[in-house]
Amino acid sequence: DRFTAPSGQKPARVAALIVAAGRGLRAGGEIPKQYQSIAGRPALARTVERFLSHPGVDDVVVVIAAADAALAADVLPEDVARVPGGDTRDASVRAGLAALPEGVRHVLIHDGARPLVAAEVIDRVLAALESSPGAAPAVSVTDALWRGAEGRVLAPTPREGLFRAQTPQGFDLAAIRAAHAAHPGGAADDVEVALAAGLEVAIVEGHEDNIKVTLPGCFARAEKILSRGTQMD
Ligand code: CTP
Ligand code: MG
Repeated sequence: DRFTAPSGQKPARVAALIVAAGRGLRAGGEIPKQYQSIAGRPALARTVERFLSHPGVDDVVVVIAAADAALAADVLPEDVARVPGGDTRDASVRAGLAALPEGVRHVLIHDGARPLVAAEVIDRVLAALESSPGAAPAVSVTDALWRGAEGRVLAPTPREGLFRAQTPQGFDLAAIRAAHAAHPGGAADDVEVALAAGLEVAIVEGHEDNIKVTLPGCFARAEKILSRGTQMD
């Protein structure tokens, strides 16, 4: 199949590391956003299912906050490994990286709050990892960009070469572990950590539907995307 390497050797063992230990403060609600339902199913259950059902993914590990253990028990399949997270996203990633099983060669680090990731986006990241130590999906910026302050436009800003970053961000496991160990902390994502360590990261085509549930309105937007099915490429 498409995950068999051309020369016939065994494909690299792939783990999905799903970070879901955040508090979801911007999204609001009684419980953190990843445990809130989108069209009747908790967001995190949807996210995890996308990786469990992907034929190129061998292991799934979910990083959760200790305070959310009961919520996670309701949402995650029993056999999915869970690891306690940290106070920042990068601390949660490091906790997850440390807990991955022996023998994993490639890791896909994904936001638990991106429940709509398509199999083809995962495919593209995995394909790019065959020839690059890092690979991540992104979409080009198509709107005009301005710099502004205090409600006024200061200056138009060229959008050429600018991308909106998504996850899963894929890496050679040993390389991204070393990059995190050398990083002072505070990175917004794992590509930032990888670049700080001098790793090359390939850009692959992401998808407009691969949104990160972030604000209260994102739940309705995600439901709309689910109900219409995939349209944009
Ligand atoms: N995350 C995590 N551990 C943290 C912070 C964030 O695992 N200490 C995870 C979130 O659960 C989310 C992803 O990283 O899946 C992206 O972070 P973000 O969208 O910022 O989520 P939150 O930090 O939960 O939201 P907010 O910043 O609005 O509080
Ligand atoms: Mg956050």
